Amino acid sequence: MRESIHTVTVVGAGYMGGGIAQTLALAGLDTTIVDVDPEATQRGLQRLLREAEDFEDQGLYPSGAAATIAEHLRAGQSLETAVAGVDFIEEAVFESPEVKTEVLARISAHADPEAIIGTNTSTIPVAVLAPAVQHPERFLTVHYSNPAPFIPGVELVAGEATSPQAIAAVKDLLQRTGKEGAQVADRPGMALNRLQYALLKEACSIVEEQVATMEDVDTIVRTTFGFRLGFFGPFAIADQAGLDVYNNGFGTLAEAYGSRMSRPELLREAVSQGRHGLKNGAGWTGDFPEETAADVVRYRNRAYARMGELLRELGPAPQASPPWQPGHTDDAA
Ligand SMILES: NC(=O)c1ccc[n+]([C@@H]2O[C@H](COP(=O)([O-])OP(=O)(O)OC[C@H]3O[C@@H](n4cnc5c(N)ncnc54)[C@H](O)[C@@H]3O)[C@@H](O)[C@H]2O)c1
Repeated sequence: MRESIHTVTVVGAGYMGGGIAQTLALAGLDTTIVDVDPEATQRGLQRLLREAEDFEDQGLYPSGAAATIAEHLRAGQSLETAVAGVDFIEEAVFESPEVKTEVLARISAHADPEAIIGTNTSTIPVAVLAPAVQHPERFLTVHYSNPAPFIPGVELVAGEATSPQAIAAVKDLLQRTGKEGAQVADRPGMALNRLQYALLKEACSIVEEQVATMEDVDTIVRTTFGFRLGFFGPFAIADQAGLDVYNNGFGTLAEAYGSRMSRPELLREAVSQGRHGLKNGAGWTGDFPEETAADVVRYRNRAYARMGELLRELGPAPQASPPWQPGHTDDAA
């Protein structure tokens, strides 16, 4: 098993594969892309090089980035030759178990037995794809988010056979390329999509129950708790707000919405141990000596003030119009 990754091939030079390849090449890794045939691969390469120049012109990439990408990114001739001899192969073809199974089987037949193989699937369990891979201990999901050049988080899913060395090597690669990996178990929706879908499902219920309009839900998310999410996850936010506060809040929600909103065991246990968060120095995420608690508050205030400045500088996102009205027939459909 490769302990360190220095050369990479991305199979599938579409939207995600292209962005992933760009990110890796920008970090100075020799990166090959390959798509269904040499023409499609060349088109992908040219698109990525043009896009890198645009990103640099817009100040989204540092000066010299497009040249670095051009130097390190190349088009492979065929899948078989492109995967041979590289340290890591990331599969980013269509989200179909059949297509991915066929592609992964070809990748693992032609890659070095020591090479690590990742899939960018957003929904298919490792357990479904792993049987296609020879030496499945080197196989895992390496799930980049869209747009890959700018979103830092990458979800890693280990299957039953995945070895800790493969995970460590990918985490190290991500760290060297400005990304941050977090590992989750091989369950449907992993962590990212379960969280996103739970939020979207509740947002839809709020609109369906006419508690608020879509526009007002989006405004509330964007301007309140969503504002915090670039800096803190739900556990850290709860520590700042007070676990005792959430504990009581769940009482009200469970009364109104039933078991779906019942108090989580994880919360009940922490509060029963006297953990109330930053306010009493003992929270979900750990202990907060006085100085640490003060540092967290200072960091938080600075982060939110800077976030406010950024949003004022960017101005509002372009609006779609006219707004879609649920319950009305769409003449255009
Ligand atoms: N688009 C997103 O927002 C997003 C986010 C996270 C993960 N993903 C996942 O990333 C993967 C790719 O999605 P995408 O949005 O980039 O799709 P896409 O359609 O833009 O790209 C897929 C590419 O795979 C190529 N391809 C298909 N079969 C191939 C084969 N046999 N050999 C080589 N190349 C082949 C296609 O020609 C195409 O260029 C999917 O698994 C998807 O679920 C997508």
